[in-house]
Amino acid sequence: MQHPKRAAPNILITGTPGVGKSTLCEKLSETTGLKWLEISKIAKENNCLEEYDEEYQCCVLDEDKLLDGLEEVMSCGGNIVDYHCCDLFPERWFDIVFVLRTDNTTLYDRLVGRGYSGKKLEDNIQCEIFQTILEEARASYATEIVHELSSHTPEELESNLQRICLWLQQWFNDTNNQ
Ligand SMILES: Nc1ncnc2c1ncn2[C@@H]1O[C@H](COP(=O)(O)OP(=O)(O)OP(=O)(O)O)[C@@H](O)[C@H]1O
Ligand SMILES: [Mg+2]
Repeated sequence: MQHPKRAAPNILITGTPGVGKSTLCEKLSETTGLKWLEISKIAKENNCLEEYDEEYQCCVLDEDKLLDGLEEVMSCGGNIVDYHCCDLFPERWFDIVFVLRTDNTTLYDRLVGRGYSGKKLEDNIQCEIFQTILEEARASYATEIVHELSSHTPEELESNLQRICLWLQQWFNDTNNQ
């Protein structure tokens, strides 16, 4: 359901690390003027990261602190949220959710290329194989607003951009005609 008070919609771009969220969000933000919220970066900059977890080789997130800090900007609308999990955000924040997907070989090469190895590499590849983030999105948001996007090539990047821009145009048309 669209949120009546928002001047522009909020879009969630999610998916396993390495599927291309930030690559898409950066271009989408340039094209549309919507604000790109790269959650990992925002969490770090606002001291929302707690102790380092040796097993998962990442920091534990203080979700309450992060969400409180984002509430105001999200209620205004016009944001593209970029994060590799999606079940922590309030359902009401988003008008549409895109889950980026890649095949194992592509993802493996991208993650090895950025220096991932061992358990971290395996966990991320498994996450994509078991479509964990897609399931998480379907469980957390109305299924009709959750869409998968294939994210392997520059051509797919371009078609994903176009698809989201068309959706955005439609959102503004519908909202103005209400
Ligand atoms: N459509 C695409 N075609 C070709 N390469 C791509 C595409 N999308 C992303 N890539 C490449 O894949 C790598 C990972 O992309 P990116 O950093 O955007 O992923 P991410 O989902 O934001 O990862 P993280 O969750 O770790 O932030 C980068 O090297 C990027 O250039
Ligand atoms: Mg990223």
